[in-house]
Amino acid sequence: MEIRLRNLRRNYGSLHAVDDVSLDIPSNTVYGIIGKSGAGKSTLVRLVSMLEKPDNGEVYYDDKRVDNLSKKELIEERRHIGMIFQNFNLFSSRSAADNIAYPMEICHMDKDHIRKRTEELLSLVGLEGRGKAPISTLSGGQKQRVAIARALAINPSILFCDEATSALDPQTTRAILALIKEIQKKMNLTVVMITHQMEVVRDACDRVAVLDSGHIVEEGLVSDIFSSPKSDVTKDFLSSLTNVRESIVRWSRDGGHFTLRFRGSSTDEPIISTVSSETGAVFNIRAAGVQNVNGEEMGVMITDIGPDEETALKAAALLRKMGVVIEEEKKEAE
Ligand SMILES: Nc1ncnc2c1ncn2[C@@H]1O[C@H](COP(=O)(O)OP(=O)(O)OP(=O)(O)O)[C@@H](O)[C@H]1O
Ligand SMILES: [Mg+2]
Repeated sequence: MEIRLRNLRRNYGSLHAVDDVSLDIPSNTVYGIIGKSGAGKSTLVRLVSMLEKPDNGEVYYDDKRVDNLSKKELIEERRHIGMIFQNFNLFSSRSAADNIAYPMEICHMDKDHIRKRTEELLSLVGLEGRGKAPISTLSGGQKQRVAIARALAINPSILFCDEATSALDPQTTRAILALIKEIQKKMNLTVVMITHQMEVVRDACDRVAVLDSGHIVEEGLVSDIFSSPKSDVTKDFLSSLTNVRESIVRWSRDGGHFTLRFRGSSTDEPIISTVSSETGAVFNIRAAGVQNVNGEEMGVMITDIGPDEETALKAAALLRKMGVVIEEEKKEAE
């Protein structure tokens, strides 16, 4: 299902928690919405998932407007939606299987069908044979698997994940993201992934929108946003990420004023030598490696450029002209 948002607004008193948001979220995709704490992500999800009404603007699922439905229509339309959260929101008094069965019980489905479907879902999320397990005996990752199975119980078209991996360690996060991607393909879902972690966007999303103070500041393909971020907010998110990339080797602890990213055709040419001979710039390379963003390989080089600032700027301009994406460290270099 395609989701379209038009001029969405939600105020709490004088605070514009969601401020004129328009977005097209294509069907059959994993779509990320990233923002810092308080940016308005959860508020936006509540509007899009019809849990809350906007003060202004419209929400469409395919061509149907869904933000102004009657209570009865709302219940019907909400069957298209599954949701998972950071804190899992499971019933601790019920077993794994009974948690998964819950939404089907609410819909008064046939008992045999519920039992069969629950087994199917347990195996879909990798918890075969664990149906009887009390929730308290499951690990965080297993709890989230139960929550995913429950969200999928009545065959939704849209899955909202609000910080679904924020409470998990990095390894479990990767496993859960891989599961969500796999399920997205299997069930042709539209997945909306809310997060404050660029790792989640990198590892799971096809497209991403960056939310800041209730506004969308940037939107596009994840590979494009990673290679040429436009807003400062996006650059901040990315810089926290590149520093922890394992595939980048740093052989000098200090320095590295410029970050160069090479993609596509710019990876096949002797760019550094060309720029060096044309501008007289000298490169002191501090770190280098590759980044893989959703299957696209990108070369990354962290370097100082000398001998003086004027030459460095000339070199940077020429590099940009040759298709290299450059970020300049804003902080004072040592
Ligand atoms: N029900 C509410 N009443 C009043 N203010 C609210 C309400 N819900 C959210 N807000 C405010 O709206 C702003 C956006 O909140 P929201 O929960 O959407 O942010 P978020 O991006 O999800 O943050 P986090 O990453 O911390 O979950 C915040 O300033 C918050 O305090
Ligand atoms: Mg939130």
